[in-house]
Amino acid sequence: MVQSLLRGAKLVLALAPLCASLASPTTARAQPTSEVLHYWTSGGEAEAVKVLKEAFEANGGRWIDAPVAGGGGDAQAAVLRARVLSGDPPSTVQIKGQNIHEWAAAGTLKTLDDEAEAGNWDALIPEVLKRVVKYEGSYVAVPINIHRVDWIWSNPEVLARVNAEPPRTWEEFNATAEKLKAAGFIPLAHGGQPWQDATLFEVVVLGIGGADFYKDALEELNEDALRSDTMVKVFDQMRKLSTYVDPGFPGREWNLATAMVMRGEAAMQIMGDWAKAEFLAAGEVPGEDFICTPTPSNNGFILNSDSFAMFRVPGEDVAEGQKLMASLVLDEELQRAFNLLKGSIPARKGVSSEGFDPCALQSMEALASAEESDALVNSLAHEIVQDGAVRGAFLDVITEHFNTDMSSQEAVNLLAETVMLAR
Ligand code: BGC
Repeated sequence: MVQSLLRGAKLVLALAPLCASLASPTTARAQPTSEVLHYWTSGGEAEAVKVLKEAFEANGGRWIDAPVAGGGGDAQAAVLRARVLSGDPPSTVQIKGQNIHEWAAAGTLKTLDDEAEAGNWDALIPEVLKRVVKYEGSYVAVPINIHRVDWIWSNPEVLARVNAEPPRTWEEFNATAEKLKAAGFIPLAHGGQPWQDATLFEVVVLGIGGADFYKDALEELNEDALRSDTMVKVFDQMRKLSTYVDPGFPGREWNLATAMVMRGEAAMQIMGDWAKAEFLAAGEVPGEDFICTPTPSNNGFILNSDSFAMFRVPGEDVAEGQKLMASLVLDEELQRAFNLLKGSIPARKGVSSEGFDPCALQSMEALASAEESDALVNSLAHEIVQDGAVRGAFLDVITEHFNTDMSSQEAVNLLAETVMLAR
């Protein structure tokens, strides 16, 4: 597959050097070079990013790898800020949602409108992603995938020990978790980091409140929704979840939590479908060794998406590298090969679903049906909605509640106050 990917990518890009040499026959073309700042360092993530690196190199590029460990990207974001402030931005950055807009507003990003026109991005990129990667009418990033956030990953053998199936409602979730606890299993594998706590929170908001409530509270920041009884119920469920994790949860990386499910120490993990990539990288088979089910909700899909943005960095080699990268990311074969390994689904319209596993197919169907029924919502934990200040306000309160004995009502009051101040 990678072979065919490389052939496909080569084919697409074969024209670029040809055009350049026609334009300036005597000038030697600079080698396309990109320093790529990313945080894809877990087993599954590393396999996926390798596909991109290999395609870049197969097309004559020099890839300077700049990985920053730490799931969810908060550590990488700090490195990026420091590098930009010191006048040394990396040329190519893995980036999400509102971060893209913040860097674009600061004037640090190159626009990619020429690449977009040449690559027909208007036709290829779904509307839900266009608003993420465009700023003031211009493309400033290129999307590589669509991740679904609202998933439970379960170990069927562990669930079978208490005669349970993956839960379909929060009542079932709690009943199963109690049984698992009594049988000596960790019900919920979790890593206590703010973005992971917020991942739990947003799936509970969708599950308990529904898509309209999610939009009111997390997207529109409607104060009544933030102060509502529904939000109290959300924190009640968060309190329950906090009793289903093991004492070792603080600070744990998300992929180590996934490994606990694989090893049968824990029964379930609530995490986006990058977790599936960990199971796949370990040779596990969906539906047999692990099970994917949407987190309890009537309808809905929490959208997350990774993109690449190009920072303003001088040098012809860098400019060539950015062009090469921008044209590769939406290449059909690359989209297929990358997303098969990453756990996500393609960001490009029209990629055949052939070869994708049942969890990915379910994600594709759920996305289409959520779009149709207006139940597609944007991840707050993963920065698709809200700027850094508002997201930070949510994360502070969610994490404080999860780690203390704060009551649900206190959490709601604090949340409404801090979010209103930060907006
Ligand atoms: C990113 C994924 C990544 C995950 C864990 C998410 O926010 O969108 O690409 O795999 O964090 O690092």
